[in-house]
Parts: sequence; C-alpha cells; structure tokens
Amino acid sequence: MIFIKSERELEKMRVAGRKTARVMEEVGRAVKPGATPLELDRLAFEVMKREGTDSAFKGYLGYPAHVCISVNEEVVHGIPRARLFQEGDIVSVDLGVIWQGFYGDMARTFAVGKVSELSLRLMKVTCESLEKGIEQCVAGNRVGDISHAVEMWVTSHGFSVVRDLVGHGIGTKMHEDPPVPNFGEAGVGPKLKSGMVLAIEPMVNEGGFEVETLQDGWTVVTKDGKLSAHFENTVAITENGPEILTKL
Ligand code: MF3
Ligand code: CO
Repeated sequence: MIFIKSERELEKMRVAGRKTARVMEEVGRAVKPGATPLELDRLAFEVMKREGTDSAFKGYLGYPAHVCISVNEEVVHGIPRARLFQEGDIVSVDLGVIWQGFYGDMARTFAVGKVSELSLRLMKVTCESLEKGIEQCVAGNRVGDISHAVEMWVTSHGFSVVRDLVGHGIGTKMHEDPPVPNFGEAGVGPKLKSGMVLAIEPMVNEGGFEVETLQDGWTVVTKDGKLSAHFENTVAITENGPEILTKL
C-alpha cells in the first residue's frame, strides 16, 4: 500500500527533512583524521535533540546507535565505535530523524582529508546516480525508471550497484511501500503519483555488487573488500516535479 501524503503531511515532512539535513551538515563537518564514529554518533544525537527530533534508527529492530557510520569497504549499517578515521578513508554517514511522527532519511559519503582519485570518482558517481534517480521522480513515471537510471549511471562508469538493499517509501514509518531498488528495468513497477515520498539510496561498490553482513549482525561489507559509497535523499513527487526534502 503506497500512501499519498496530503499537503499538510508534506509540510511536516519538509520540516523533518530539513532537520535531517542540519544534523548531516554538522556531522559531515566533524569527519576528519583522528575523529571517531562514536564521536559522530554523539554529535548527531546532540544536534537531533537541539532540533527537537529523535533518531529514527535507535532501537529500530534493536539497532544500538543513533546513526550508521560505514568506513571504506563497509557499505551500510556500520555501528559507531571508537576507531580513528585516517587520512584517505571514506566515511558513509546514514541518519534519520523522526519529528512530530514524520521521518527524514539521508546518507552521504565524506572524504577524510585527501583521498585517492578512485575514491573521489566512486563518491562522485554515487552522488550523481542519486541525482539521476531523483530526476525520474515525476508523476506518471514508474519506480523502475528510477531504478534503471541509477543502475545505468553506475555501471556505465565501471562500478556496481548493491542489490541486497534497496530504497523505500517513507512517511509516518521509516520504511513504507514501495521498495526502490537501485537496479532494474525502466517502465515497470508502481506508477509514481504526486504526494508519494521516497527515500532513494544508491549503494555503489568499486568492485563486485556482492555484500555480506559481519558477526555484529549489522555491518554490511563488500565481499571483495573493495570500497563502497552511499548517498540518500528523501524525495517528494509533486506537481512541480521532484522535491528533495532532506536539504537545508
Ligand atoms: N537509512 C537506512 C534505511 O533506510 C538505515 C536503517 S538501519 C537502522 O533503511 F537500523 F539503523 F535503522
Ligand atoms: Co533509507
């Protein structure tokens, strides 16, 4: 069941999205050599509180932290710990908030100091693939148009798209229908309508698309140990086209 949000609900989701982006902005600025995922988690929690929000992730299926921090070959769902970031690392921050019953969900991959050309390219292509997906968020298109646009951008640049994890509808729950895969055929899947809100979140691997979950039950890593990047926005489909809600 795909929910259509009213203008009143969309207005709330705009606020939730803006608050999510504010948290991300502050957390992103704190990503530097010598900082730790645990510090970022604490900072994120502080900003969430200041914004009058709660973490969408804490306690979700038993998830133990406020945000997910995934470094280098870690794809998503990294549990913040005390490891030190080193120059050259890439750090994916995934965070969501709930505000007055509405969710915002967003991810960015940040560079720690100076990183390799390859890392820069991976981050750029992943970010662009999200933009390509968002461009397809037009009433009358289908979910498959988003999936296909993301996949084509990624594979044409020599990278691969994670298949085991997908984007999702979002609203008064973090995960609503429909699933939004980052791969697939154009022209198939549910039709997009004005008032739908989707979290589009390409996870892009330098090497193969295969991933596995570590013993901690959460951290998803690339099977080949190569790098991965993750960009996500919460996006509304409106009469005026796509509207990114997770922006400042
Ligand atoms: N942004 C992610 C998601 O969409 C993270 C959720 S995992 C959690 O689906 F357990 F940490 F919440
Ligand atoms: Co998400």
